[in-house]
Amino acid sequence: MLNGIGNMAWLGAATLFILSLRGLSHPASARRGNLYGVTGMVIAVLATLLVTGGEGLQIALIAALVGGGLGAILARRVEMTQMPQLVAVLHSFVGLAATLIAFANFLSPKVAMSGVERAIHDTEIYVGAFIGTVTFSGSIVAFLKLQGTVSGKPLVLPARHLLNAVVLGACIVLGYRFVSAPDGGDALYALIVMCVLAAALGVHLVMAIGGADMPVVVSMLNSYSGWAAAATGFMLDNDLLVTTGALVGSSGAILSYIMCRAMNRSFVSVILGGFGAVSATASASPQGEVVATSVDEVGSLLRDAQEVVIVPGYGMAVAQAQGTISEITRRLRALGIRVRFGIHPVAGRLPGHMNVLLAEAKVPYDIVLEMDEINEDFTSTDVVLVIGANDIVNPGAQEDAGSPIAGMPVLEVWKARTVVVSKRSMATGYAGVDNPLFYKDNTRMLFGDAKGSVDALLRQLEAA
Ligand code: TAP
Repeated sequence: MLNGIGNMAWLGAATLFILSLRGLSHPASARRGNLYGVTGMVIAVLATLLVTGGEGLQIALIAALVGGGLGAILARRVEMTQMPQLVAVLHSFVGLAATLIAFANFLSPKVAMSGVERAIHDTEIYVGAFIGTVTFSGSIVAFLKLQGTVSGKPLVLPARHLLNAVVLGACIVLGYRFVSAPDGGDALYALIVMCVLAAALGVHLVMAIGGADMPVVVSMLNSYSGWAAAATGFMLDNDLLVTTGALVGSSGAILSYIMCRAMNRSFVSVILGGFGAVSATASASPQGEVVATSVDEVGSLLRDAQEVVIVPGYGMAVAQAQGTISEITRRLRALGIRVRFGIHPVAGRLPGHMNVLLAEAKVPYDIVLEMDEINEDFTSTDVVLVIGANDIVNPGAQEDAGSPIAGMPVLEVWKARTVVVSKRSMATGYAGVDNPLFYKDNTRMLFGDAKGSVDALLRQLEAA
């Protein structure tokens, strides 16, 4: 009876998770998606406690209180711009949990098994521990790279792919020994050695990936953490964990694929730790003159325009300029000027970063367009306002084969009549490459903190 109710509840929770993913795919439905996810999770936890008859209830409650408390404090403290690091750390927890559960399952099995049943269960333990450990160590390195503690440069060891293959081969051999070992001691030894090797593999896979590809790595680790959870589900014979893990695993893989396409990176290359990645040759220094502009000049450029496109980037997030940008948009639209936003898939520091900020500032969704939707319209745009963006508007990605971001699709803002770039200096962006856009004849640089600049611009527009 209890099991029946539990299964029904799990089915309901799994359905809510699917609805949640669907909701999260668009800003307008994201809030509802989140609510579905939270409700699904509450049902899942309650149903699990019900099915296990409240066994270990006290420990579960204490763990939930401590974990929930720490999570709440961290989430409140962390800046929006530090989200990727937080996500990387959270993935490492999932990986570690999968590995610890695998060890617990092996050292104190709930039911004695033999023959094929035991072999299958041991394989689940081994695979869970393997994926969990790779996810754990890889996520820690991703965190350190995003934090800047470890250099963003890819670590290119000689014969590194061969090295990965040898480590993987050794893990498979150890897996055979683990499953076929008659006594616990030998099997435990194989499990521990495999975990050490898997940890080294995770470190090496992520160390081999350059800083500019880190967004994809984070989303790939998200996928790995899902598969680690799914493996844990098999181990614990928990259908909901299998389903949820598979949902996270596959959606993370799809997101990684979409991001790879957006950055013109090979998906396989990123998954295999930079396999086949071409190292950039010397990139050309930009030529031309940098022309600085003023708030007054930008104000009159905007007032004289009919078509305006705003391209936000990481700097808008740092400066928290989205509220004023939203006001400027309202003001310009009231003057009959068509204003739209162009969003690059990896603008900012996390997927959907700009969409979240613009939605928070109440910019209407229907004027916020994806890169593919707006790229062809720049030729007929009068003014492009680039707010704290750099790499995503770098023409070098198309024009300079030696650039580290060569081949990455970018917003072709330089095709507009005039481009105004708001940033503090001539400093490079995340990928650390110079931007020839700043030297083009039709580019004007509005130097200064983006918030200060757009606040002054709004005052100017309101005064006129
Ligand atoms: P970036 O290329 O990083 O450029 C941001 C620019 O903002 C900088 O050049 C900086 O120039 C300027 N800036 C910083 N603070 C500012 C402030 N207070 N006011 C005005 N400007 C400010 O950003 P992007 O164009 O958005 O490109 C994103 C980059 O991050 C890509 O390379 C992408 O691969 C990478 N990345 C993306 C993600 C995801 S998933 N979105 C995750 C990790 C990494 P100044 O210092 O001169 O002001």
